[in-house]
Amino acid sequence: MRAMRGRFITFEGGEGTGKSSHASLLARRLEALGIEVVLTREPGGSTGAEIIRHVILSGAAKPFGPAAEAILFAAARDDHLNQTIRPALARGAWVICDRFTDSTVVYQGILGGVDLNLIKAIERIVVGDDKPDLTIVLDVPPELGLQRAASRRGTGAADRFEAEAIQYHTKLREAFRALAAKDRGRCVLIDTTLPREQVADGIWNEVQSRLTPQKYRGTFREAAS
Ligand code: TYD
Repeated sequence: MRAMRGRFITFEGGEGTGKSSHASLLARRLEALGIEVVLTREPGGSTGAEIIRHVILSGAAKPFGPAAEAILFAAARDDHLNQTIRPALARGAWVICDRFTDSTVVYQGILGGVDLNLIKAIERIVVGDDKPDLTIVLDVPPELGLQRAASRRGTGAADRFEAEAIQYHTKLREAFRALAAKDRGRCVLIDTTLPREQVADGIWNEVQSRLTPQKYRGTFREAAS
């Protein structure tokens, strides 16, 4: 018998929104129900994509401009989908991914000025029908987000994206908010200024109400409490 296709959930948002910790909290809640979860992130998540990640985040690709970066992110995504995401969904696992296509739209498109038609065309080719079932957009005022990112980093150097000015982060936040408002069917905006437990519960409520497959009904409520 073929397994029921798993669900695909992505987390998006600016720096310091707590994406990676909320992604793993959600993974743990789903695993507690006996669901296989593949927790992954972009850029990266497969051998080829991790190599491209290094090229991009080291700043080595910066001289080529945001359009070339968008193409590199898409190349990494293609490998990530083929090696990790599609096989997981096909065997019935749920995939939780920290950043996906919306990050390319926001960072390279809206902020970087790359033609959104180009970005959408590449997205159609690379992603096809494997769009996320649910995208959780985490929202935080930029001052607080940067403060969180800095304390997490400790004394380490800022990567080239985090080093950008506060104005950039304000634009980033507005772009993610606009994107969430435009695609309400897929996206949900979550305020992360609240205490972490409350944010996690809010995310869990959305996942339950939007994605609960019939066979998990009932058990979902117990795991949430
Ligand atoms: P990372 O260190 O993983 O940071 P974060 O915790 O913010 O996710 O770095 C990923 C960076 O890459 C982040 O600044 C956003 C950027 N990015 C893009 O510009 N375009 C993309 O398509 C993706 C996936 C990420």
